[in-house]
Amino acid sequence: MAVGSQTAGLNRQALAGTYKVAREVNPQGFLLANVSAGVKPELALAAVEMIEADALQLHLNGVQELTMDEGDRTFQGWAENIEKICQFVPVPVIVKEVGNGISREMAAQLAGLGVKGIDTGGSGGTNFATIELSRSKRENLAFLRSWGISSALSLLEVSAGTLNLKQATSVPLIIASGGITHSTQIVKALALGADAVGIAGSFLRELINNGEKALREKINHLSEELKVMMLLLGAQNIAEIREVPVVITGFTREWCEQRGIDVKKYAQRKRENC
Ligand SMILES: Cc1cc2nc3c(=O)[nH]c(=O)nc-3n(C[C@H](O)[C@H](O)[C@H](O)COP(=O)(O)O)c2cc1C
Repeated sequence: MAVGSQTAGLNRQALAGTYKVAREVNPQGFLLANVSAGVKPELALAAVEMIEADALQLHLNGVQELTMDEGDRTFQGWAENIEKICQFVPVPVIVKEVGNGISREMAAQLAGLGVKGIDTGGSGGTNFATIELSRSKRENLAFLRSWGISSALSLLEVSAGTLNLKQATSVPLIIASGGITHSTQIVKALALGADAVGIAGSFLRELINNGEKALREKINHLSEELKVMMLLLGAQNIAEIREVPVVITGFTREWCEQRGIDVKKYAQRKRENC
């Protein structure tokens, strides 16, 4: 589980408890701290310590900042800052987008900075341009609602991009997120190279509309459906899902061809034990 951006808890001690509760109720769980990639390394460390996090997420949210009246307008020095944070905190660092996707070039740059994981945060799900524009009314920036790389394409960019790079610059962990609502999307993401998927909006909507019991049921259903699909695919674990042939068609295929991602490799790959 990842907590939301901890800036509020770092700036106002009274709010720190609203983050610490995640550790209190889940002492053994894998928890991710979350701050902007632009914060000072000391603050990033404080966020990790606040919830005794197992890893740290640094979010990149350029579109969101630019659509907020009070948002950041300069992002100078962020790459150097990410590198410093990676060296400063004692846990692995994951860099994530929040709905606009990460390209292969960016993934390679981040890997070179010492980042251990990438959460693609592609477009197609929660849309912060839409959220922020409904507050700021800056309609000239409405085109940002469709800005970015979709979740499927960003995942292909990051996973195929890192496969083609030298081992030293590849990203060990890839998380796919952005608009994931159904178990079939989870299996497709795993088959395209994700180690895990992230879900935010879909769970939140279920909780708000139908309550906690319904959310628990939804999560249990996802888990059951994954097992059903893994059985039907003959995959005993995530690594084996990644050996299942995947046929990529239409616009996604066109995109891949333009970007030098070999779709035939996915369609013609062979299961080792078949
Ligand atoms: C209500 C809400 C608050 C969010 N706050 C943060 C945040 O503080 N930091 C962050 O990195 N991402 C934040 N996200 C983005 C999610 O982590 C995720 O990248 C994005 O929502 C795409 O996934 P989804 O389509 O499943 O919602 C938030 C998402 C939602 C729905």
